[in-house]
Amino acid sequence: MILDGQQPQAIATAAQALQAGALVGLPTETVYGLAADADNDAAVAQIFATKGRPADHPLIVHVADASGIAHFASSVPPFAQALVDAFWPGPLTLILPRQGGRAQAATGGQDSVGLRCPQHPVAQALLHACQARGVHGLAAPSANRFGRVSPTSAAHVQDEFGADLLVLDGGACQVGIESTIIDCTRGQPVLLRPGQITRAQVAAACGQPVLSKDELLTQSPRASGTLEAHYAPNARVRLMDARALQAGLDLLGADAAHLAVYARSPLRRPSPGVRLVAMPEQAEAAAQQLFAQLRALDDAGVRLIWIETPPDGADWEGVRDRLQRAAAAG
Ligand code: TXA
Ligand code: MG
Repeated sequence: MILDGQQPQAIATAAQALQAGALVGLPTETVYGLAADADNDAAVAQIFATKGRPADHPLIVHVADASGIAHFASSVPPFAQALVDAFWPGPLTLILPRQGGRAQAATGGQDSVGLRCPQHPVAQALLHACQARGVHGLAAPSANRFGRVSPTSAAHVQDEFGADLLVLDGGACQVGIESTIIDCTRGQPVLLRPGQITRAQVAAACGQPVLSKDELLTQSPRASGTLEAHYAPNARVRLMDARALQAGLDLLGADAAHLAVYARSPLRRPSPGVRLVAMPEQAEAAAQQLFAQLRALDDAGVRLIWIETPPDGADWEGVRDRLQRAAAAG
């Protein structure tokens, strides 16, 4: 059931359901989440079961504001506090030392917890309504089955989980790819997942260099966003540069049923049957529509998607990461 998240009654209904241990589809500015009371282990277990997600892949806990940190985290290093001050509410998740006894199932029992304060007005309204009912945070992974493309609209969430799930409609997600994740438990910031907020912005805000995941690979905690193959549509994805794309198209000629091409560069279309979709030239716009495009191509019955490799710039890091994972899925 999809409810209009603008309606106060819908927020009250969703908050009540969450307090009672049910799951709710939640809009955020990045992607939609599948939310449960973060301190209710039975409710959180339902998230893992519904998504088909392994229980040792920890979930992000969403809080209404920075005051929610103290409930879930045992300490906040100064550089992490600087990131909270600079980017919350917003698309930034911080991994912090976990407060004992809190969000046990949501973190898979790890001694750290991922915290994020989303800025989407519907998420804000729901988190505050939950807080007023004694629910301190909402564990919410992206509202898709494990390994699939994340949802960026209420309809996508219903496509994933069916009409019985209560979903708050907050419109199409503005950012379109998941939050940037910074591990703050290692003495210096470590980028676990790129997103709209870039590594350079994080470094500038906290005055410290940001290590990459690779520089820390051997000791880093599990992050399902770091699996090679992830965020994959049903269709196979191949990444190539514009020249290789054009050569492939010319070679295929009219014999290109079930193929779609998603590219920034203008390409000659060998036959009217070939589906050419224009990728935006700006990274932010490309991120915003990326998952919806992949879903739309799946829905259209496309079996193979050739995608132009994104540019090297830092602002493209999030989109590059998601596309490389989609291509790695086979
Ligand atoms: O934008 C987002 O972050 C979205 C929206 C709904 O907020 N959520 C999201 O959740 O992407 P999910 O579960 O799909 O991805 C959470 C990522 C996973 O890669 C998980 O392993 C990592 O965060 N994570 C969560 N807690 C962690 C922890 N304590 N240590 C390391 N990684 C953690
Ligand atoms: Mg996810």
